[in-house]
Amino acid sequence: MPKIQELPEKYCVAEREVQYLLFDPDAQLKNTTVLNVSKTYYYLKYNLVPGFFQIQNRRYLGNKYKLTAFISDILSEKCGSFQSLCDIFAGTGVVGNHFNKKNVRIISNDFLYSNYVVLKTFMGIADINLNKLKDKIRLLNSLMPIENNYFSLNFGSTYFTLENARKIGAIREKIEELSVNKDEKLVLLTSLIYAVDKVANTVGHYDAFRKKLDTTNPLVLLMPNIKPENNCDNEVYCEDANQLIRKISSDVLYIDPPYNSRQYCDAYHLLENLSRWEKPNVYGVAKKMDRGHLKSDYCLKSATKAFAELIRYAKCKHILVSYNNTGESKDCRSNARIKDSEIVNILKRKGEVQIFEHNYKAFTTGRSAVDGHTERIFYCKVTE
Ligand SMILES: C[S@@+](CC[C@H](N)C(=O)[O-])C[C@H]1O[C@@H](n2cnc3c(N)ncnc32)[C@H](O)[C@@H]1O
Repeated sequence: MPKIQELPEKYCVAEREVQYLLFDPDAQLKNTTVLNVSKTYYYLKYNLVPGFFQIQNRRYLGNKYKLTAFISDILSEKCGSFQSLCDIFAGTGVVGNHFNKKNVRIISNDFLYSNYVVLKTFMGIADINLNKLKDKIRLLNSLMPIENNYFSLNFGSTYFTLENARKIGAIREKIEELSVNKDEKLVLLTSLIYAVDKVANTVGHYDAFRKKLDTTNPLVLLMPNIKPENNCDNEVYCEDANQLIRKISSDVLYIDPPYNSRQYCDAYHLLENLSRWEKPNVYGVAKKMDRGHLKSDYCLKSATKAFAELIRYAKCKHILVSYNNTGESKDCRSNARIKDSEIVNILKRKGEVQIFEHNYKAFTTGRSAVDGHTERIFYCKVTE
């Protein structure tokens, strides 16, 4: 294994000192087995294929890209080989995508349409003409609109430069006209979503824009680095997880719901608006559309009830739950909705539970730790 100083620039090192911290004095937790692992994981820092983007090349709150190797180790140890994995709160889809191979069936789901678009592109499309797609992306990049449109009128000079906002609106409109079928439209939209993230004047979500508009690079659409040959048996959904769980089954069920009261539809309203393209009225400084129908139970007081119901209907052999308990904070919106003891008690109705926890220090080449936090996985071997 290379030493940190010898690592090529393209890698980041995440050193995991895995140890169990007693974060909840509850008796059920004390009786739960905890496995300690100490290991160093590597992950790619940059996009390695020029002109293409990878599924992880975007900013998304709570994305688990840096955790995929850790999840993979838990799966190897606990499940051995498996034929199917369901990522039911998929977000960016990086977890399901990590396990996406010809002989593994992936079920990927998120109830935001802007996420579904990306999930379908990377894991759902089994047959597409990539050369034709390249020509269409070239054509979209060549658009130079000088007039305002729905997108520039609402999001220009704040979230984006006026020029970029006009181009985003014009490209979005053109995608409707240019796409010969639904799959092609989804891939072009995915390309737009990733390009938009690169030029957004934000800290990575759309709750607010930064006061100083200094993200001035021009918008450029790239090709997604997809492997359609892996997607033949996969299923991609845009449904409420608690509805979908009644209809599906898989060997492994990975559950990564929102942890606190911050709704993803609030943070990503702009991408949702752009993807759906229904051109609704938008309100307030942040220019959000009406999102009443997009609120998640997992961000509300009813989160524990929703989680219990999800587990009750789960048809699988192994369950992995990511849940971040950041402890009590002054900002109530950051406090976790479900207690650790509740997660353990609910999972125990299905089988044996173990907790994996690691303290995670991020390193960049030749430097010491730059930040650190803890991630945990609750594992349940289903025996019922
Ligand atoms: C913590 S994020 C998942 C991050 C993901 N594991 C990744 O690596 O990108 C939680 C996701 O759950 C979705 N979500 C929230 N409530 C949902 C529900 N009831 N059904 C389906 N998806 C939901 C959100 O849109 C969000 O993308």
